[in-house]
Amino acid sequence: MAKLNFALAALALVALCAVANASYKMPPPSKRPPPKKPPMGWRMRPEVPAGSISAWSYLMPVEGKESYGKGSVQLVIPPAGMGDGWVWISLEGWMHDVIMMHIHEHNTTLGNPIRLDLLPRLPPGAPAGAVKYYPPLDYYGQLGATIYFNSTDIDRWNPTMPGWDYFLGQLKMGMLYANVHTVANPGGEIMGDFKCADMCSWM
Ligand SMILES: *[C@@H]1O[C@H](CO)[C@@H](O)[C@H](O)[C@H]1NC(C)=O
Ligand SMILES: *[C@@H]1O[C@H](CO)[C@@H](O)[C@H](O)[C@H]1NC(C)=O
Repeated sequence: MAKLNFALAALALVALCAVANASYKMPPPSKRPPPKKPPMGWRMRPEVPAGSISAWSYLMPVEGKESYGKGSVQLVIPPAGMGDGWVWISLEGWMHDVIMMHIHEHNTTLGNPIRLDLLPRLPPGAPAGAVKYYPPLDYYGQLGATIYFNSTDIDRWNPTMPGWDYFLGQLKMGMLYANVHTVANPGGEIMGDFKCADMCSWM
């Protein structure tokens, strides 16, 4: 469907308190009031089509890394013919100098490869690559986005094992995770493993 090109661009970046300005320096945490908890329902999630695969990831600071960021991410893959998949991202707290966010596969032999770009979004047809925000992005309070994707996006990140089977197999085994990269923690500052809400297969 042609709307999809722009569905990607329609990535709803609800960065209520986002500051994309490299010269801006956040005051140190001690000088800052804690961000208010976002109001209930501050972001609506798209409706999940019946029979979809739905998985959640709760992002927490990576062990040994200091971070005031956290968040939840829902991954939804509708059955064939029921539209694009989507990833609903809702980050809270605050983070400094965010450069990228992805879904990765746990596999140290392969270097924990990216399996889907989340933020920033690659344009359709662009080669797979770790593209960074420049300047990096700060948020304070809330940052939300909804990313739409389809099998073309999945295949782009894994040309040797294209198709849903491999991606879903990894999801089922708990090997997929969401990860936010920052300048201070380029390998990942907050992350969380995806767990299927129900079955990891289309019903
Ligand atoms: C996936 O979306 C892209 C961009 O919107 C589109 O060009 C492509 O044909 C779609 N692929 C499938 C398998 O629907
Ligand atoms: C990592 O990937 C390699 C190459 O595909 C595979 O042989 C290996 O079993 C994977 N490791 C795990 C833990 O899945």
